[in-house]
Parts: sequence; C-alpha cells; structure tokens
Amino acid sequence: MKKIEEYVRSIPDFPEKGIIFRDITSVLQDADGLKLAIDSMIKLLDGVDFDVVVGTESRGFIFGVPIAYALGKPFVPVRKKGKLPCETISEKYDLEYGSAEIEMHKDSILPGQKAVLVDDLIATGGTIEACTKLIERLGGEVVKIIFLMELAGLKGRDKLAKYDVSSVITYEGK
Ligand code: PRP
Ligand code: MG
Repeated sequence: MKKIEEYVRSIPDFPEKGIIFRDITSVLQDADGLKLAIDSMIKLLDGVDFDVVVGTESRGFIFGVPIAYALGKPFVPVRKKGKLPCETISEKYDLEYGSAEIEMHKDSILPGQKAVLVDDLIATGGTIEACTKLIERLGGEVVKIIFLMELAGLKGRDKLAKYDVSSVITYEGK
C-alpha cells in the first residue's frame, strides 16, 4: 500500500521561486489517496470528545466535510469575507503579502460547544489562528486542530501553542 506522502505532488518554485508547493489535487484525484487522507485525519481524532467540525474555505471544506460526515457530526464553514448571508463575525489575518478576512455566522457555534478545526495545511498558522479567534468569540472551545500537512519550517505551531495540534504529514522545510 502506498503511503500518503506518495500521493502529494510537490511543485518547486510555485507560486514563486524558492517555494515548494504541496499539491493536494494529486491526493484527491486518486480514490485510494482520498480514502487514506480522510482515514488518516480521522485517526488523529481518536479519543477526542467534540460536538462540531469547523473547516475553513476552501481546502478546509474538502477535508472537513467527509470527516464530519464519517463521525456523525455537524460541519460549520468559515468563509472568506462577503459570502455568508446572515449575521457574521469576522477576523483579519496577515498573509505573506497583504491581509485577508474570514467570517462565521454568529449562530453557527453555540456557547460551550467543543470544536475540532480542520484544514489541509498549516504554513504560517495565520489562517487557523484567525479561525480559533472566531470560534472563541462565539463561546466555543477549540479542543483539537488537525491538518493533512504541516510545513514545520514556518513555525505555524508557535501561534497555536495553547492548542492540541496534529498533522498527518510534516515537512521540515517551508
Ligand atoms: C492555504 C491553505 C491553508 C492556508 C495555510 O489556503 O489551504 O488554509 O493557506 O497558510 P497559513 O498557515 O500561512 O495561514 P489559501 O488561503 O491559499 O486558500 P484556499 O484554501 O482557498 O486554497
Ligand atoms: Mg486554505
């Protein structure tokens, strides 16, 4: 059986020189790769007691929904600004160049609910840190954060020091 690392395609110098882009489309377009990725992420949740899966647009949706479905939990989307139709709260965060803003519906997490946060990748950690702030502003508790891939060289975990964070694959570089 192939290992999950073997399904990830690595593209040097994309989107710019010096960056190795870790592509998940090669995982998703192989039925065995897709199953292995989702099953491996679900294993990271062994023994975790939680109420809801939260995933962030857009790649966090790809992994978050099947995990929620498989475990019989609801899924809450964090969306890029301007997409959600009802009352929202928002957080800005820094990107390598510029900034971005994400939102959640105010009624999407109830006070006291235990949330698992899911995304495909942690790089600087800015995206997921902003998600934790949104969940906590709604009164939720982030009990676990899981990624398929982690770029350890960017030290995104430092931003998430107070949380329980696990990744299926860790790349030592950036
Ligand atoms: C990518 C990736 C993570 C985030 C990681 O999303 O899917 O969400 O960047 O980077 P960070 O740890 O430095 O915040 P992107 O914003 O490119 O959008 P996408 O998911 O819609 O492709
Ligand atoms: Mg993303």
